[in-house]
Amino acid sequence: MPWLELQLTIDTGLQPRAEAALEAMGALSVTLMDADADTPDEAAIFEPGLGETPLWRSLTLLALFDADADRRVLLQRLQGALPELVPDRADFRVVADRDWERAWMDRYQPMRFGRRLWIYPWNIEPKSDLDPEAVVVRLDPGLAFGTGTHPTTALCLEWLDGLDLRGKAVIDYGCGSGVLAIAALKIGAAQAIGVDNDPQALTATTDNAERNQVAGRLRTCLPEQLADTARADIFVANILAGPLYDLAPRFAVLCRSGAPFALSGILAGQEADLLARYRDCGFTDLHAIRREDWIRIDGVRE
Ligand SMILES: C[S@@+](CC[C@H](N)C(=O)[O-])C[C@H]1O[C@@H](n2cnc3c(N)ncnc32)[C@H](O)[C@@H]1O
Repeated sequence: MPWLELQLTIDTGLQPRAEAALEAMGALSVTLMDADADTPDEAAIFEPGLGETPLWRSLTLLALFDADADRRVLLQRLQGALPELVPDRADFRVVADRDWERAWMDRYQPMRFGRRLWIYPWNIEPKSDLDPEAVVVRLDPGLAFGTGTHPTTALCLEWLDGLDLRGKAVIDYGCGSGVLAIAALKIGAAQAIGVDNDPQALTATTDNAERNQVAGRLRTCLPEQLADTARADIFVANILAGPLYDLAPRFAVLCRSGAPFALSGILAGQEADLLARYRDCGFTDLHAIRREDWIRIDGVRE
């Protein structure tokens, strides 16, 4: 069955009223996206971190209505509820029915990170003429974050690609789709633990581990289920500056002495507080690497 999609670009401050108006108008679903994002991961919601920098200045809302809804009436009701709305920032189109959770995969292409690491969407067969050293992770993130398209993930994948992981135990804290833990295992790590406070992420990680034949070496758990004895030779956490700050003492315990570690999900401008915090918590050789608006901090546990 086709649907009528109303696409609306608004200033972020109008979001609560716009959403309420669309729901009152009978929208069957309302999806929020960063109006400036090109990819689904870029459009993902990041809470403001330590510096409280708002990330989205404008929002695109996609509202689905029955195909036979009257466009003129919808627009009139919307303008009644939102007089600030600029009319040419609202647009209608008829869309075919589809599996909406899967729709983003149509735009997702294989990507290379560092020297050898490739992330392939699950629905694309890896090329037969890839470099013999290439390591391919085949991914279907489902509802979880982590396709490689976001700079925070890319920064971690490149870092992992540069390490000798053979025989190592990895902890991926904030595992999302499992992309980092699975990449580490495919590059040579012996075992990995994926930790996430979202049960859907743990499911996505397990599913992706099975797709990549590494399920026997990857365990997943909620933060409170992580064994007291769990220790990492390699530690990576792509979360956000706020939780990274709070969790520093916990991460210090989880890392073995000498373990390389990387933190991601840090907005440019937030790194100074984190560098000081991690130095105080026993991490050393710290570097901050920037990609677009995002910073990766890496270093070594003393
Ligand atoms: C930005 S995504 C990163 C996903 C993937 N590791 C990647 O690099 O693309 C952050 C993930 O961390 C999880 N997360 C956020 N805060 C957390 C916390 N305090 N403890 C554990 N997981 C957390 C979220 O549920 C989400 O799946």
